Amino acid sequence: MFPVVRQCLFRYFLVAFLIIFAIIMILGFTMLITGEEKVFINEPMVFKEVDHHKLGSADALQENIAHPIIVWWTKFTGEQFNVLKCKNVTCVFTEDRHYKYHPNTKVFMFYGTDFTPNDLPLPRKPHHEWALLHEESPKNNYLFSHKPIMTLFNHTCTFRRESDYPISTQHLPTLEWLQDTTYLLPTSEKTRYQSELAPILYVHSDCDTPSDRDTYVKYLQKYMKIDSYGSCLHNKDLPKHLVDPINGMSHKDFYKLIAKYKFAFSMENGICDDYMTEKLWRPLMVGTVPVILGSSKVRDFLPHEKSAIIIDDFDTAESLAKYLLYLNRNDEEYEKYLQWKKTGITNKYLKDLMAHREWDTSDEEVMHDSGISYIEGFQCFVCQRVHENMRLEKEGKMPKVYQATLEHYGCPAPIQFNAQSQRVDSDKWKYEWQHHKMIAEKLRHSIDNGNNFTWKDAHIFLQN
Ligand SMILES: *[C@@H]1O[C@H](CO)[C@@H](O)[C@H](O)[C@H]1NC(C)=O
Ligand SMILES: *[C@@H]1O[C@H](CO)[C@@H](O)[C@H](O)[C@H]1NC(C)=O
Ligand SMILES: *[C@@H]1O[C@H](CO)[C@@H](O)[C@H](O)[C@H]1NC(C)=O
Repeated sequence: MFPVVRQCLFRYFLVAFLIIFAIIMILGFTMLITGEEKVFINEPMVFKEVDHHKLGSADALQENIAHPIIVWWTKFTGEQFNVLKCKNVTCVFTEDRHYKYHPNTKVFMFYGTDFTPNDLPLPRKPHHEWALLHEESPKNNYLFSHKPIMTLFNHTCTFRRESDYPISTQHLPTLEWLQDTTYLLPTSEKTRYQSELAPILYVHSDCDTPSDRDTYVKYLQKYMKIDSYGSCLHNKDLPKHLVDPINGMSHKDFYKLIAKYKFAFSMENGICDDYMTEKLWRPLMVGTVPVILGSSKVRDFLPHEKSAIIIDDFDTAESLAKYLLYLNRNDEEYEKYLQWKKTGITNKYLKDLMAHREWDTSDEEVMHDSGISYIEGFQCFVCQRVHENMRLEKEGKMPKVYQATLEHYGCPAPIQFNAQSQRVDSDKWKYEWQHHKMIAEKLRHSIDNGNNFTWKDAHIFLQN
């Protein structure tokens, strides 16, 4: 009996082993495929052909729709047919491309990261307005760094204050949240932690960026100790429950970890005016002094004139390190940077901005009940502009003309740091930026001539 059982067991093990082996092979293969997609590609992926029969009504063109129609050309909201009421006006928002030629279709909306030159509603009709929502890093799509593309749009919602519906404070929940002192530690306690910890913290997992932040941090490391928890320049491990980049970064224990440090790097992956993320607001909230590499106008948004250290203010990494180490030894000088946590936010520009902001952020646990998202806010903004022009036309007046300028996004060419930690032209990322400039020119040329756009045309153009 015993050998029979053993034989059975052996067979079970063999089958189980084969199944597990097959699963590992399949997983490995899919990871290989999806991994390949992550490699930087010059040409955005070709959008899949839309199966019209699966989308909305096949009779879309004949549908009698009373409201102006606004088509999300790049899928974004997941809504097939949303009748959106905005105060005294109403518009229909849809992701159904069927409505491209509906007589009531007024606007095409685009989400910047997914804006693909060979998949646009072309040829463009004179009455078709275009709207751009792009809150993400310039790194995601360099087309918007160029004038021929930006001036295609009639309505914009970006982080730049110059855009029509600016969302520069997209990652700042509220001023009360910013002022919070729950995590703030006394300086003496921060000093005591330095028996195990460095004076400054760095946490990033995107290591090859157009802001070249890793290179700068590496130079700074020659002069002072830096604790790096992410995969970039990694030298310290996060507790297991904080490793997950989505949930870990907004975990209370992560806030507590930042709070133990006197300084934290606040470095964006791409540099553009008014591009600021939670990397800026989080240290300010927990009571750690941010050391900023980012928007050249970041000072305009800081809670107090002495609340952060800006890398642009220092000629070299060495001089910055000297200053940080000086503050690290000198509690009285250091604490001046945290005074505002007790005495309050003094920045009038920031206070006014937040007092009049009609939308709420969604990426922190703090949410107001009353708030709308900036996506809904921008949709209503566009809807109101459309209605306003319809009213003017009805009254026999000239409709208003709206046209974006480069300043509604337009980010500068990427830089890198040389051995003296000074900014110089970047090789790889500058090439990306310039490559997109040429595509932008070609695309604009096609649109202005009432043509479609194909990559083939673009490549012929780029070779000449
Ligand atoms: C909606 O209200 C605004 C004022 O809040 C007004 O300027 C606009 O003309 C109104 N639009 C319509 C279509 O009634
Ligand atoms: C929208 O922008 C296009 C391209 O610049 C322009 O031709 C058109 O007149 C604009 N439409 C409105 C309503 O401003
Ligand atoms: C552009 O493409 C559309 C759809 O494929 C086609 O109907 C149209 O004739 C093309 N226009 C030009 C000018 O090539």
